[in-house]
Formats: sequence, structure tokens, C-alpha cells
Amino acid sequence: MDDPKTQSDVARAAAALRAGGLVLLPTETVYGLAADAADARAVAAVYAAKGRPSFNPLIAHVADVAAARRIARFDERAERLAARFWPGPLTLVLPVADTEAVSDLARAGLDTVAVRAPAHPLAHALLQAFGGPVVAPSANRSGRPSPTTFADAVEETGAAAAVALDGGPCRIGLESTVVALLDEARLLRPGAITRAEIEALIGPLAEAEADAKRSPGRLTRHYAPQSPVRLEAEAPRPGEAWLAFGPGADGPFNLSPTGDLQEAAANLFAYLRAADRTRPSAIAVAPIPDVGLGEAINDRLRRAAGFVG
Ligand code: TXA
Ligand code: MG
Repeated sequence: MDDPKTQSDVARAAAALRAGGLVLLPTETVYGLAADAADARAVAAVYAAKGRPSFNPLIAHVADVAAARRIARFDERAERLAARFWPGPLTLVLPVADTEAVSDLARAGLDTVAVRAPAHPLAHALLQAFGGPVVAPSANRSGRPSPTTFADAVEETGAAAAVALDGGPCRIGLESTVVALLDEARLLRPGAITRAEIEALIGPLAEAEADAKRSPGRLTRHYAPQSPVRLEAEAPRPGEAWLAFGPGADGPFNLSPTGDLQEAAANLFAYLRAADRTRPSAIAVAPIPDVGLGEAINDRLRRAAGFVG
């Protein structure tokens, strides 16, 4: 982050946020479309650029735990999880403590706020330079796969951004894990930090309720390419694109020839997009083991196929 070009890019991006503009922001999970969380007009522009329903709240991104404590009420479980996994791909849903710093629109009117401290050096530099919480939903248009490369982010919502920061391909490639700590600890969205890693620190996680108010993002169809998606396929049929997994499969879209779930997660959205561009009759996807990071990969794949959990 020391080179002058990066420093001036970050300064330009912080100035754009202060002026109510939007910024394409790389994070370690996926690219986000960022705005000043306190600025309802800027937040409205984010919803508009994504075509996202305004009842689906946004994540407030902060530089560190101290900044998070200013906007959310931390309990002991939150402290423990943040100490272990921040900065990193974990989002905590907590009671909101500052309803001005994170505008009502950003929270979709809820009395809770989703907060995370991202690990990507560019994201961290921008959050420090800006100083306040920044909302950043994934930079895709609503219902499409999240962008994991700069080019995909620009293609999705670049037109709405005043500044676009190029942080290269996203290391993780799947969105953050979302855990609500309101009453019982609940897994609202499986993600890069696995269920087992969280349960090891705070005990068993309850399932997300099928309650739109609690986890609004889970009710909409998500991550969908244009082509139909066929899951648990043994092999592609004629005309289909083939998202393989593991050794012995040829073709351009093997998520991980060695059967590595981290590699498969990092490739998932980029390969879905690339396969979609070949205009296949369908995208056939090999079975992915439902363990560890596989839970999050299978969650995204079921949504891409139109099965909403
Ligand atoms: O990895 C990520 O989390 C990326 C990067 C850019 O940080 N961001 C991201 O944001 O995935 P988004 O807006 O695409 O997904 C946020 C999810 C949605 O499912 C939303 O419903 C949920 O978090 N969420 C946000 N605030 C909430 C709240 N107060 N209560 C329950 N769920 C909430
Ligand atoms: Mg999203």
C-alpha cells in the first residue's frame, strides 16, 4: 500500500465517498459497490445500480473492531468471533448502536446492523482513509453471480462508480459468512469461514429462519447465470457446459483438478460466468462434497440453479 499510485487511488476513492459517490471496491471475498453508510442518497444509488430491492439490507464495512463497536452492540460472542476472524470474511449481525452512522436505508429499517472488517489491503486502506462505515454489497446487479475479478465488477456496476479500484482477482471468491447474534447465534449465510470454525468458538449455530425480516437476502433468487444450471451431474450432455471438480475431468472449467475446496470456491463465480458466455443449453455441475467450505459452495450452486433454501 506504500506506492504513490495506490495511495493516490485510495485518496481519490475516499474523496468520492465523501462527495456521495460510489466506489468499486475489491475485498478478499468478492468485489463490492461501496458508499458512505451515513449518506442515504448515496445508499439509494447503490440499491438503484444493483437493481436491488430496498428491503434487503447492506453490510457496513469498517477498518477494525473499535470502529465496529461504535456502530453495533458487541456481546461476548461477537468479541470472540471478531478477535479470531477479523479482519476477514465474517459478517456479524448485531443490535445497531448508531442509527446515523449507518442510515435507515442501509439497514432496510431494521434495528440491527450487519458489520464486517475486510482483510483486503486496498479495502482496509480505503476504510482507514475514509474514517466512517462504508456499505458495500457485492458489485453484481441483483440476482447475478458476485464479481470476483476487476473486469467482471466493471461489467456489472462499473458505470455507477465514480472510482473503480483494481485489487486483482479476489482471493476467496465467495461472500462472507453471515452470523446473527441477536438471541440464539444463527447462520444466515454459509461462507468462507465454515460452520465448524464458528461453532468451535461459540457453540452450536441455529439454522436461519425462513423469516424475511431476519434474513431478507435468503428469500430472493441469487447468483444466477443466464443459462439453466444442472446440479450433481455425472457428466455433461451434448450442448452443455461442464463445471467439473476433481481429477480426471478435461475441459476448461474444472473448479479444482486436485479436488481442493478452497480453489473451487475461488473459481466458482468466474467459471459460472465464463461457462455462461459460451451460451450452453445448460451448465452441468459435478457434485461438490458438502463439508467445510463445500457447504457455502453448494449453497451458492443451489441458488444459481433456482432452488432457494
Ligand atoms: O463478502 C461479502 O460479504 C461481500 C463483500 C463486498 O464484503 N458483500 C456482500 O454483501 O455479500 P451483500 O449485500 O451482497 O450481502 C449481504 C447479506 C445479504 O444476504 C443481506 O440480506 C444480509 O447480508 N444482511 C445485511 N444486513 C442484515 C441484517 N441487518 N440482518 C440480516 N441480514 C442482513
Ligand atoms: Mg450479494
